[in-house]
Parts: sequence; C-alpha cells; structure tokens
Amino acid sequence: MKFFIDTADVDAIRELHDLGMVDGVTTNPSLILKSGRDILEVTKEICSFVTGPVSAEVVAVKADEMIAEGRKLAAIAPNIAVKVPLTWDGLKTCKVLTSEGFMVNVTLCFSANQALLAAKAGATFISPFIGRLDDINLDGLDLIGDIRTIYDNYDFKTQILAASIRSPNHVKDCAMIGADVVTAPPAVIKALASHVLTDKGLDQFLKDWAKTGQKIL
Ligand code: G3P
Repeated sequence: MKFFIDTADVDAIRELHDLGMVDGVTTNPSLILKSGRDILEVTKEICSFVTGPVSAEVVAVKADEMIAEGRKLAAIAPNIAVKVPLTWDGLKTCKVLTSEGFMVNVTLCFSANQALLAAKAGATFISPFIGRLDDINLDGLDLIGDIRTIYDNYDFKTQILAASIRSPNHVKDCAMIGADVVTAPPAVIKALASHVLTDKGLDQFLKDWAKTGQKIL
C-alpha cells in the first residue's frame, strides 16, 4: 500500500521522505491555508523532491474554470495530480484533463455511487473521506470496502486513495481491505511505529545490556 502524506508542511514531508515513507503528497485548500504559503510556490517546492504523485486542488466550481486551473496546476511538474471535487463539473473536468494525459484525483467522495462515477470519468485516484463519515456516525471503512468490491467487479483502474485518515487503525483497516493508497497527516504515519511493548522491551534490553559491562564499539 502506498503512503501519501496529507500536508503542505514541507519540513514534515522532508522528514518522512528521508525515511522512505513518502510515495506521494496530497494537499487541499485548507492545508494550503494552514501552511501560510502560496499554492504554486509550495506545490513546486514539494515537487522538487517528491517524485510520486503530488495532488493540488482546483478552487473553481464551474468546469471551464476548473479545467483552466487544472492545466495551470499540472504545469508545475509532471507528477502533479489535479484534485477536483466530486461534482458534475468536477467529473467533467476529470474527463477532460485525463484525456489530455494529466493525473486527476477526485476528492470529497462519500458514497460508492460517487466513486463509481469517478471511475467512469477516468479518475486516476478517488479520495473517499473516512474520518468525516465516522464523524457523523457512519462507517468510513465500509465505504472503502464497497468501492474495492465495485472497482474489482468491473476491473476499474482508478486507485482508491483513502483520505481523512485519523488513526493508525484506519491505516491498518485500509490495508486489510485493499485500498491502494492512504493519505495521512505526518503524525498518523509516525504513530504507526509506536507500541508500548516495543518501548518496554527495548528499555529492558538496555537495562540488561548495561549489566553485562560490555561495549560493541
Ligand atoms: O485529504 C483530505 C484530508 O485532508 C481531509 O482530512 O481530517 O480534514 O477530514 P480531514
């Protein structure tokens, strides 16, 4: 399963990139606001060292303007995936931009029928938002499972990019279901390594080693 980092914080991306944990990056207007930076500049900087897909989201709502924005974002670097919302104008934009050879990530997906439309529009990625469904007492992982089944039934090539990831359990469950990608905040990726028994076991190893009086170097 691929790990995309869901942030526009370049330092945080670099830290995980140096560990080989960055297969791509996703941003959105809220993450750009949080970064305090210009979308074109920060996206260009991310693409200067991340070779996997880097999602940059359009902000227009009408297809003609979305297409123009998408072409401008795609011109930043060859690994840009243009992010469009799951609306009919977004689907039209997806169809046009994918036909021109650009990657498109269809975002703000909350139903299997929406994901079916995105696949038929030729989306490179579909971004179902797990956490926001959980927030309203629906099961975001059920949606990932439904989309996996539908895409496999018809051999759709659109990659399931599970988004709105809030915990290591979301990551594990997405891997069990077979999502192609998870996009997660840096803190969630880092939390994947944490386990109390690992810490406890290492602590005991070091205490026992100290008692041997030995050194390796
Ligand atoms: O990529 C989508 C993600 O940024 C949304 O996450 O936690 O705001 O639902 P969240």
